[in-house]
Amino acid sequence: MQIDLTHLNATHFGVSSPDPLRFAFTQKTSPHAGGMSAPIKSERYESLFQSLTSVSSKRSNKRCLYIHIPFCRVRCTFCNFFQNAASRQLVDDYFEALLKEIELKSRLAWTQTGLFHAVYIGGGTPTDLSPDQIQRLGKAIRHSFPLATDCEMTLEGRTNRFSDEMFDKALEGGFNRFSFGVQSFNTKVRRSAKRLDDREVVLERVSHLSSLDEAPIIIDLLYGLPYQTLEVFAQDLADFKDSGAHGVDLYQLVVGGNAPMLNMVEKGRIEPPANSAQKASMYEYGVGFMNEHFIKQLSVNHWARDNRERSQYNSVAKTYAEVLPIGCGAGGNIGGYGMMNHRSLESYMSAMRSGDTTIAMMSKHHSLEPVFASLKAGFDSGVVRRSVLAMTQGYDTFELLTPLFQVWEQHGLVELKGDYLLLTLAGSFWAVTLAQGAISALSTLSHGQLSVSSPLSHGNKKLHFVA
Ligand SMILES: C[S@@+](CC[C@H](N)C(=O)[O-])C[C@H]1O[C@@H](n2cnc3c(N)ncnc32)[C@H](O)[C@@H]1O
Ligand code: SF4
Repeated sequence: MQIDLTHLNATHFGVSSPDPLRFAFTQKTSPHAGGMSAPIKSERYESLFQSLTSVSSKRSNKRCLYIHIPFCRVRCTFCNFFQNAASRQLVDDYFEALLKEIELKSRLAWTQTGLFHAVYIGGGTPTDLSPDQIQRLGKAIRHSFPLATDCEMTLEGRTNRFSDEMFDKALEGGFNRFSFGVQSFNTKVRRSAKRLDDREVVLERVSHLSSLDEAPIIIDLLYGLPYQTLEVFAQDLADFKDSGAHGVDLYQLVVGGNAPMLNMVEKGRIEPPANSAQKASMYEYGVGFMNEHFIKQLSVNHWARDNRERSQYNSVAKTYAEVLPIGCGAGGNIGGYGMMNHRSLESYMSAMRSGDTTIAMMSKHHSLEPVFASLKAGFDSGVVRRSVLAMTQGYDTFELLTPLFQVWEQHGLVELKGDYLLLTLAGSFWAVTLAQGAISALSTLSHGQLSVSSPLSHGNKKLHFVA
């Protein structure tokens, strides 16, 4: 058996260029590589979900819990994840429905017979909950789910209105990791993207929370935003270092869907965002900065300066670990099926009121999904290891993909070293494109009713980008 390279083209191979970092591919089109799956008929969602979760699970399998908070007080211009504007009443009603879903899902046999290694409260903006709600949420999770003793419990959000009181309540609720979207510290960049708070305010909050040393504080930075020149980005990185935050994600801006930025640029109201080549230069600068300051690289876009930062959710959810999704718009996967809860708040609330299923989409994973997941995890980590790649229909996946790896090696994207494929700087920048290329190559081996799954489902994305 061998992959058929004639089915592939430059979007998979890249092109030969003296500057692969900037020009091997034209642009990154999606934040995450997508697997493939076959849709399930909606009338089967609930019975299938019940049968998948009525079984006991193996305690040795790592798994995650993803809970979604679909509100933001203000919509950022670049974001595809925005769902609903936060108002106190909407948030309060949603919170009560969420606690009910937590209780229902915690009672499943599948839930109680396994161990959860990572919990992620994502959004939207979970820090738009009240301090009491955050504490209650943490306690409800700790009370209802079997968590590993070293379970990572992350609260995502923004520093805006994240008071000391809220931090204390979150810690009392059992959260032990905090991920704040900063995007850029620069005031002009922030204002143009409709981010709340100016540079000094955000910097003070991140520095203060980090200095307390109660739990790892991680920040997300974007590169490529309007007005975020290389000089501004360099200052963002310096600010991250000076803030004392324990870890950082560097995400390439990928604007798509209905993000307001596109329209604003078209109308000439703001400068356009950076192009791919400019973003590649920013990434190069970012990697150089981290190396210069001996900040440890955990994946192609994540760095830690403190040993407490393990980024468990990202690494576990990117393998073929199961993810139980809870909340409006949450996505996950159990027993070889992907699933997503209603994205519309109204549909979710009405399902919770009537006792109907919360699931709005379900699909059966491609039989090679474990292989695809191990590839995605490998590319994301910067090294694809022969020994951890799942087998493809009994064949060594690394061997099958070697012809493609060799093309990439000629293009300066990877180095083949025995049982390891190392991503070069250029390969790290294009890691999602490479993962997608490998998945497409393996897909030439099998046929069937396949559809590409949405790269924007929450939960077992990242995400974090979600990301
Ligand atoms: C779903 S958001 C939630 C974070 C939080 N609400 C905030 O605004 O800081 C998670 C992360 O996704 C990233 N993100 C959002 N839009 C993006 C885009 N268009 N391209 C790349 N990353 C994006 C941001 O870095 C953000 O911190
Ligand atoms: S970046 Fe965060 S706060 Fe801004 S719209 Fe997206 S999810 Fe909401």
